[in-house]
This record gives sequence, C-alpha cells and structure tokens, in this order.
Amino acid sequence: MVKKLFTVGYIALIAGACTPSNKAQTSTSKGLKDYYSKYFDIGVAANMHSLRGADSALLVKEFNSITPENDLKIGPVHPTEGQYNWRAGDALVGFAQRNNLKIRGHNLVWHYASQTPTWIFKDKEGKQASKELVLQRLKDHITTVVSRYKGKIYAWDVANEVISDKRDEYLRPSDWYKICGDEYIAKAFQWAHEADPDALLFYNDYNEISPVKREKIYKLVKGLKEAGVPIHGVGLQAHWAINEPSRGQLDSTLKRFADLGLKIHITELDISVYPKEHDARERKAEDTNTAFTAEKEQLQLEKYKMCFELFKKYKNAITSVTFWNLSDKYSWLDNFPVQKRKDYPLLFDQNFQPKKAYWEVVKVAK
Ligand code: GLA
Repeated sequence: MVKKLFTVGYIALIAGACTPSNKAQTSTSKGLKDYYSKYFDIGVAANMHSLRGADSALLVKEFNSITPENDLKIGPVHPTEGQYNWRAGDALVGFAQRNNLKIRGHNLVWHYASQTPTWIFKDKEGKQASKELVLQRLKDHITTVVSRYKGKIYAWDVANEVISDKRDEYLRPSDWYKICGDEYIAKAFQWAHEADPDALLFYNDYNEISPVKREKIYKLVKGLKEAGVPIHGVGLQAHWAINEPSRGQLDSTLKRFADLGLKIHITELDISVYPKEHDARERKAEDTNTAFTAEKEQLQLEKYKMCFELFKKYKNAITSVTFWNLSDKYSWLDNFPVQKRKDYPLLFDQNFQPKKAYWEVVKVAK
C-alpha cells in the first residue's frame, strides 16, 4: 500500500519536473561532480526509479558514482538459501557502466533485521544454526556477490554498523555476533578480498560524530588494519541534521579518521531539516508542521556549506562523497524517525531543481 501511494506521487512529480519553466532554471551544463572533480567523487544512492526519466537525467548530469540503495543488501539479493535475485543489482550496475559511473557496493554483512533474512541463522530444524554453518553461509554469500561484480564494483561496504550505540558496549550484540563472536568481521573482509583483490573494502557506520562511537569505530578499523586484514577505508554515513554536527565536532571527526591513514568515504550524506533524533518514535502534534520554511532552508544551507568546507579541507583523505538519495521527492527520512513526516534533506527539491544549498556547495568548490 505504501509502495503504491509512493508510485502515484512519483509519477505526478516527474510530470511536474518537466515543465518548461523548471527546465530553464537548470540550464547550466556542469554538475556537482564537475565542480568537485579535483577533490573527490560525488555519488548518490540509486534504486530502480533512478534508471529512467527525470531521475536518470539528473543523476547522470550531477553525479559520477552510485551506491545501490537497497538492492545489493543480503535480504533483497539473497532472500532464500542458494537463490539469488540479481535483477535490480544487474540493472543498476549496467546503467552505471553505460553512463561511466563508479559503483560502490552496499553492503555484505549487516545486523538490520528487516534487510537480513532469517534463514541465515537457522538450521534445517529451525533451531539456531551453528557458528560453522553461519560462517560458511556468509562466505558463500560474499564470494558469490563480490565475484559477480568483480571489476565492476570498485568499492564495497563490507561490514555495516557492527558497533554498538550503547556507551559501555563495544560490538552490537547482533545474531552474527551472538553466534560467531567477533571473527565474522575480519573474515568478511578476507572473503571479499579473495573474491575481488582489486576492490577497495570499507567499514561503514553512523553517528561517527559522537566522540564515544567515533573512538569505537576508530578502534575497530585500526585493529583490523594492524591485524593485516584487507581494509582500505572507513565509510562515514553522515546522516546529519540542521543542528549537528558543529564545525568543531566534524573537524575533529575527520581529523581522527584521517589519522588512520586509510581512505575516507562519506557514504550516506543527508541533512534533515528537523533537529536530530536517533530513534524512531510516534508522531506528535507538533510534527504536523512540515513546511520547508525559509528558516529551515537557511539552517540547512549553512550546514551543507560547512560540511563541504571541511570535506575540502580533508580532501587528501576523502575520495568520495555520496548523498543518500537524489532529491527531496523521496528520502528514507520521510519515514524516519517519524512515519510520514516529510523531510527535505537533499540538494535538489521535489521537482529536481537545485536548492539554494546546492549553489552554496558549488561556491565552496570554486
Ligand atoms: C543505514 C544503511 C543504509 C540505509 C539507511 C536508511 O544507514 O546503511 O543502507 O538503510 O540506514 O535508509
């Protein structure tokens, strides 16, 4: 049902985006990728909607890299044991190749229940699978997926979000961890490397700006590197908001991760126009005010400007900045943390037009 509503709105918005007056406003031939070509790649999360019409035109003009938003996650790609669903992944990879876009793979091991199938953790009798069986399944999965796109997907988020958000807990007590202990993390990198020795392998996580979580991510990545595990970079998701991070907080975050001597990818950038909340919650009376006001526009523009100034400062470490979705027409933040609360977290509006924040970001590049 939700999906159906989304599709109807989507078609109406595409029609709106094609009016001549709107077209006239985007007549410059350069895209964000061109303004930033001497610093880092500019990417975007992509899905099947990205491959046609106005979405596809905007994507190819502005970006030089894509990350499949959901289609290569273990749940969608490998819903039952031994059965892979390649349709969307192949379509996205084919599109990227035809349009000279780089591809970041996302992701090979993740805790998130709704996108990780339960069969992985169950044996034939439906009881908890043994460590050996779970690791064997993870190895088969990684080997199959990475080999299929060998030489096409240049970088992979190998492990996603294995760190706990709880102050005094290091690793998240996911089913992976409970059954396998911490060794599944290093093994995932090793298997991905064996399947494609040229692929760049990343550890990816969110709330990297929190001093507590940042140190845990740093410790994990440094430990893997020192143990000789093939890891080439850290992915900072960058799901931020108008009220965070501060300049000092982001500067110290980027400095800390640059100190690792590995690559940094900003992997899932968006800046919500609502103050940051980390957990899903019920809608409240004040959530009905969802207009994109001049005040929100200004605060968001300043935050985007600050972020790109600092990305530029750390250009020697940062090699890619990926936005998590294309335009304000659709973002996961429309349903998180509050269901059906419209957000406007990106640089293009609901009609695919560049927002004021876009031009601020362009100015930073010059
Ligand atoms: C995390 C994941 C992404 C995506 C977002 C929400 O950041 O890494 O793949 O699911 O949550 O859209």
